[in-house]
Amino acid sequence: MRGTGTFITFEGIDGSGKSTQIKRLAEHLRTSGHEVVLTREPGGSPGAEEIRALVLQGDPDRWSAETEILLFTAARRDHLERTILPALAKGSIVLCDRFADSTRMYQGLSRGDLRGVVDKLHNLIITHEPDLTVLIDMDPAVGLSRALSRQTADERFEAFGEDLQRAMRQGFLDLAQEFKSRFRVVDGARDIDLVATDIARLVDSELG
Ligand code: ADP
Ligand code: TYD
Repeated sequence: MRGTGTFITFEGIDGSGKSTQIKRLAEHLRTSGHEVVLTREPGGSPGAEEIRALVLQGDPDRWSAETEILLFTAARRDHLERTILPALAKGSIVLCDRFADSTRMYQGLSRGDLRGVVDKLHNLIITHEPDLTVLIDMDPAVGLSRALSRQTADERFEAFGEDLQRAMRQGFLDLAQEFKSRFRVVDGARDIDLVATDIARLVDSELG
């Protein structure tokens, strides 16, 4: 079903450095001779990129919390079918910027306690979990100032503010405890090169 590849996800609050670090890890692994597929959520396949625009742009209040969970899950299913599983079947390392843990946090926490709904839908429609999840942890004040300095169209979640980002940080740390065997927590409030070296080392050791 999964093939011989390795599925690695990056998680963390907005601005924690996921996109920066995932690119660095891709370069590192390619230099070591691995076939790497770099992808992201929401998105990562043509259909899922269309859904990304629906959830991250425009008036966020046009979706109820439950509809939003369905949209993120629909995007993930398409991404799995068309990008992730085919790449794993070929033996590639798939590096994905956010995955189901982001839904557990963002949709599970931010508009009431909907974690149960998120988990049920995940178990029904997605079923796959990553082999390894790198959580880039840092104080939200640092992440928020980095995120706000970027002027992108995806402002929907970055407008959350510091209190919610603080709850997210704790939520991600709790998830790392819940799924201990696949999570590795990295301190992201350091120089880019130091963080990249840590991540390369831990992924190399997991790949054996
Ligand atoms: P994310 O994908 O988690 O939202 P990014 O990788 O896009 O985070 O980083 C957010 C911003 O912070 C970018 O402008 C990036 O260049 C910068 N940045 C990333 N990592 C660091 C770091 N370790 N120190 C300082 N700035 C960083
Ligand atoms: P993006 O611009 O990619 O942000 P970041 O660089 O911080 O990852 O936007 C992704 C946003 O979508 C981010 O704020 C988190 C949110 N999101 C969810 O709410 N649920 C999800 O399942 C996923 C994958 C992302």
